[in-house]
Amino acid sequence: MFKANPDYLKLRGSYLFSTVANKQKAFQAANPDKKIIRLSIGDVTQPLAPVIIDALHKAVDEMAVAETFHGYAPDLGYEFLRKAAAENDYRARGCDIADDEIFISDGAKGDCGNIQEIFAKDCKVAVCDPVYPVYVDTNVMAGRTGVFDEASETWSDVIYMPCTAENNFMPEIPAETPDIIYLCFPNNPTGGVITKDALQGWVDYANKVGAVIIYDAAYEAYISEDNIPHSIYECEGARTCAIEIHSFSKNAGFTGVRLGYTVIPKDLKCGDVQLHSLWARRHGTKYNGAPYIIQKAGEAVYSAEGKKQLAEQVAYYMKNAAYISNGLKEAGYEVYGGVNAPYIWLKTPDNMTSWEFFDKLLEQANVVGTPGSGFGPSGEHYFRLTAFGSYENTVEAIDRIKKM
Ligand code: MLT
Repeated sequence: MFKANPDYLKLRGSYLFSTVANKQKAFQAANPDKKIIRLSIGDVTQPLAPVIIDALHKAVDEMAVAETFHGYAPDLGYEFLRKAAAENDYRARGCDIADDEIFISDGAKGDCGNIQEIFAKDCKVAVCDPVYPVYVDTNVMAGRTGVFDEASETWSDVIYMPCTAENNFMPEIPAETPDIIYLCFPNNPTGGVITKDALQGWVDYANKVGAVIIYDAAYEAYISEDNIPHSIYECEGARTCAIEIHSFSKNAGFTGVRLGYTVIPKDLKCGDVQLHSLWARRHGTKYNGAPYIIQKAGEAVYSAEGKKQLAEQVAYYMKNAAYISNGLKEAGYEVYGGVNAPYIWLKTPDNMTSWEFFDKLLEQANVVGTPGSGFGPSGEHYFRLTAFGSYENTVEAIDRIKKM
C-alpha cells in the first residue's frame, strides 16, 4: 500500500489565498446581487504594456517559421534575458552579478518554494512574522519545521522574527542562530522597507554565523524613496551569503504570463560546494526552461520603451495605494505600508481579530482583503489590502469602507 508524504499531512488547512477565495465564492453564491471588490491576493488587473504585447506577438510569429522556431529553452534561461536582467537589475546599480549567475524560471513563487530543496533537512529556518506563507509551507512539506503548536500557531523548529508596529515592522537578529533566513523587502504583507544600513547588518550577520539569506525582491519596482536598496547585492559581502529572487509579476504584470529568476552568486559556498551548481543541477533535472515566447516578453521589460511603460503601470498602482492609505486614515484607521510597496497593512479596529474584520468587510462593504493572521501569529489584529485593483474599484471599495 502506498503512503502519502507525512510531511504534507502536517500542513495547516488550505493555502491562505485559496481559503480567502473560497470564502469570497461562498459569499457571492449566497448574495448573487452584490458586487464584490477583491483587494486580497496581489494579482494585477491592468493589461500587459504595449511593448510586451508586441514582443509576444513577434515571438509567436517566429514560432510559426522553421528557421526561427524554438523548441526546449536552455534550462537556465536564454542568454538574451540573463544578460538583460544582470545588466539592468544589477550591474546598472553597481552590483557585481554575472549573466550566468541568473537562473530564469516560470515565476518567483516556484523559486521561493523550491529553493529550500538544495539545503539539508536539519537546517534551521528563520522567517519574519507575518510572512508570505510559501516560505513556511514549503519547509513544512520538506519536513524541516518540527511540530505545530496550536496555542502559539508556530512550528517548533522555525525561528519567528516578529514584525509589528512596535518595531517598525523590522525583524531583529534572533536569539537562536538560523541557517537559512528569509527576508522580503519591500515587504509582503506589511509594505515595510529596510534601509541599506539595516540590510548590511543582516548581510554581515549572515556571513559571521555562516547563514544564507534568501532575499525576495519581488516588489523592488515599487520603491519610491532614497536609501532603500533594490537588491541585497548593493550590500558589501552579499555575494557570499545571499540568494535573491526576482519576479516579473508585480513590476510588469506577468502574474498570468509567468516569469521570474533567481540569482545565486558563484561565491556562495558551503565548504567547496557552490549552491550555484546545486541549483543548476536541479534546474537541469526538474525543469525545461521558461518558454521562448515568455522570455522574449521578459526581454522587452528592459527596453527603453518597456521601462517607460512599466513605470507608468507602477505609478497607476501606487495611485491606488495612496487612495487606500489616505482614505483609511481619514476614516480613523491605523495604516502602514503603501509608500514603497503595493500593500497597505492596517490595524483592525476595536481589537477585532483579522478574520472577524475580514467577515465584517465582506458583509458590510462587500470588499475582500487578506487577514493578517493568515501570514503568521504576529499578523493577528492586522489586515492587508492590495493596490493592484483597478482605480475605479479601489475608489469604490475605500468609499464603501469609509461608510461602514
Ligand atoms: C500575495 O498576494 O501575497 C501575492 O500575490 C502572492 C504571490 O505573489 O504568490
